[in-house]
Amino acid sequence: MSVVPRAGNGKITVPDIASRKTLLLGDSAGQQKITCLTAYDYPTAQLLDAGGVDILLVGDSLGMVVLGEESTLGVTMDEMVCHVRAVRRGARRALVVADMPYGSFHVSIEDSLRNAIRLVKEGGAEAVKLEGGERRMELIARLTEAEIPVLGHIGLTPQSVNALGGFHVQGKTADGARQLERDARAVEAAGAFGIVLESIPRGLAAQITGELRIPTIGIGAGPDCDGQVLVFHDLVGLTPGHTPKFARRYANVAAEISRAAAEYCDDVRAGRFPSDAESFHAAGLPAGSAKGEAKPR
Ligand code: KIV
Repeated sequence: MSVVPRAGNGKITVPDIASRKTLLLGDSAGQQKITCLTAYDYPTAQLLDAGGVDILLVGDSLGMVVLGEESTLGVTMDEMVCHVRAVRRGARRALVVADMPYGSFHVSIEDSLRNAIRLVKEGGAEAVKLEGGERRMELIARLTEAEIPVLGHIGLTPQSVNALGGFHVQGKTADGARQLERDARAVEAAGAFGIVLESIPRGLAAQITGELRIPTIGIGAGPDCDGQVLVFHDLVGLTPGHTPKFARRYANVAAEISRAAAEYCDDVRAGRFPSDAESFHAAGLPAGSAKGEAKPR
C-alpha cells in the first residue's frame, strides 16, 4: 500500500510515532517530542490519556511499583495481559504498548510470537516493547512480519539486572558505548518503529538519536532524544523508597493519599463519618436505626 492509514480521529498510531523524529536528516523545523508514561490500570490510563500523553506503556515495572517486587523478573504473562486490558479500556487517544515480561521471549521464536499475540489479542496492545539489542534482531523481524509493531529497549535493561550486576548506568566506557550503538542500529534494521534508551550518558543518547531514522525515547538518557518516558509512580510521587536521579516528581500524591486515609480514620473513630446526610433513610423507621438499601454506585 502506498498510503499509510491514519485513524483520522486524533488517535495516535504506530506510523504517527515512527514519523516523530525531532531532527530527521537535519530538518530544523523538527517535530513535537513524543511523550510516554507507564500506566497499569483503567483510571490512570483515562487520566493520562486525557492529559495528552502520546504512548501509554504497560511496563513490567508493574512488578516493582504496583506489585511490590524487588525486580521486574517475576512479572508473568497473565499479569501483563490483565493490566494491558485495563489500560486499553482507558485509552482513547494514546498508543498502548505492552512490555514483554522476562521469560516470555527467551525460550523460542514460536513461544515469543505466541506471547506477543496474546498481548495483542487478549490485552488489546497496539505494539509490544522488548529489551535487548543485536541478539533480538531475528525476534524483532519475526514479530514485525507477524504485524506486531515493536518498540526496542536498550541501555539499562532491568530484566538483565543479574547479568549487569545491578541497576547501573550503561555505555560509560568506549566499548560499552560502541556496543550500544551497534544494538541501536540492529534494532532499527530489524524493523522496530522506535527505541527506548534507558540510563545512558546524554552524549551517547544524542549520538544514537542522530544516527537512527526511528525515534528514540529516553529515560535517564538526557534531553536530546526524540521523546521521553517516565514511570507514572515516579512522576506523581507514589514510588515506594528511592526515586531515580533522572525522574522529576510533578506531584506528591503519596502525601495526599496518606492524609486522606488518616483523616478518614480520625472521622470514623470520632463518629464524624458517616453523617446523617451520608446515610439512607426509610419512612417509618427512627433516623438513628434506619437500615437503608445500598444502591450500587
Ligand atoms: O517497565 C518499564 O516501565 C519500562 C520503562 C521504564 C521504559 O521499561
